[in-house]
Amino acid sequence: MLAQLQTSGAVHWLGRQLFNREDPAAFFDPLLERIDPLLTRQTIRARVISVTDETPDTKTFVLEPAGRWQGFRAGQHIALTLEINGVRRTRTFSLSGTPAQWRQNGTIAVTVKRIQGGQVTGWMHECLEPGATLSVSDAFGDFDIPDVAEPAIYIVGGSGITPVLSHLETMAADGYRAPVTLLYYVRTHQDIIARDRLEALAQHWPALALKIFTTEEAGSDQRLNDHQLNQVPGLNARRCFLCGPEGLMDLAGDLLHRRNIPEDRIHCTRFSAPTVELDGDNLGGQVQFAKSGKQTESLGDASILDIAEASGLSPKHGCRMGICHQCSCRKTSGTVVNRLTGKTSGQGEETIQLCVSVPAGAVSIDL
Ligand code: FES
Repeated sequence: MLAQLQTSGAVHWLGRQLFNREDPAAFFDPLLERIDPLLTRQTIRARVISVTDETPDTKTFVLEPAGRWQGFRAGQHIALTLEINGVRRTRTFSLSGTPAQWRQNGTIAVTVKRIQGGQVTGWMHECLEPGATLSVSDAFGDFDIPDVAEPAIYIVGGSGITPVLSHLETMAADGYRAPVTLLYYVRTHQDIIARDRLEALAQHWPALALKIFTTEEAGSDQRLNDHQLNQVPGLNARRCFLCGPEGLMDLAGDLLHRRNIPEDRIHCTRFSAPTVELDGDNLGGQVQFAKSGKQTESLGDASILDIAEASGLSPKHGCRMGICHQCSCRKTSGTVVNRLTGKTSGQGEETIQLCVSVPAGAVSIDL
C-alpha cells in the first residue's frame, strides 16, 4: 500500500506541499526501510538469499532485487552499494547467474573473489549474510553473446569466469549450435570456480569443448601459449571473448592479433578500466557544482565523481570505470581530461562521465 502511494502523483503533491520538494522519497524512505528495505524508492535494494563457498577465496551471493529492477543480459555487470562501518562503498561485479534464472525466480547472483586487502570484498566474505540488504544498480555493459550462432572461443582467467558462466549457460539453454571452446586458466585445481557447473555444461552441451589449465601447480606451468591456441579448430574464424586479469588479457590479445584476427571480433571485459598516464602538472582546479551551490578546489588527478562525493554530494553512478554511463552529467564550462583516453574536452557545455573526468582548470558542473 505504502509502495503504491509512494509512486503516485498524490504523494509527489504531498511532498511538495509538506516539504517543498519534488522527491518525497527522501522523506519516506527511512520509514519504508523499517517496514521492508525492498520498498525504498531512491535506490533499488536487494536482499541476500544465500551465500555459497566456491573456492577458498571465492563466494557466490544470490540476491533478490526489488520487483522494479529491470533485468539483464548475459555478460552484464551491476554495481553494488554496501554500507560498511557507516561508509557507503560501491563496487562493480559481473552477474554469474543467467537472465532465465532471474525471470524464473527473481534472483540474481554475483561471484566474488576476495581481493587481498580489499575493504569491500573482504567485508562481503566475512559479514554479508542471508537476510542482509544492499543497493543494486541497473545492469550495464555490452559483453554480449553473438546475435547469430557462430564458432567462438573464450579465454578466461580466475574469477573472469563469472560473466562467461552466464554466457555459456544461456547459450546451452538456447541450443547454441556452433562450436564453443573455453580455455580456462587457474592457479591450481582448487581455484576452479563453479567446476560442477562447467563440467555439467560440457557433459550436456555437445557444442562445448572445456579445457582447464593450471599455471602454478607443482610440476605444471600451463600458461596460455600458441600451442594451446593451435589445438582449437578453425580458430581464425571464431569470435573471441576474453575475460580475466590484465596479464592474461594482454597476452591473449597479442597472440590473437598476431594471427590477424580482426579487432572487432575480439571482445573483452576487464576487472578494471585501462587508464592512460596523465600530465599531473595540468590537472586539478576549482570545481563549481552549480545546482547545489558548492564549490571546492581539487588537486591532482581526482575524478569529478570523487570530488563531488568528498563535497557531500551523491551523484548517480554505477561502475566507476567509464563503462555504464550512469554518471553522465552536463559540464557547463571549463575543461576536463578523460582518464581512459587522455583526451582533453572542449571549454563549453557538454555531457561528461563524472567518474573518468579529471578537471584541468576551473570547471562548472550541473550538479
Ligand atoms: S559510473 Fe559508470 S561510467 Fe561513470
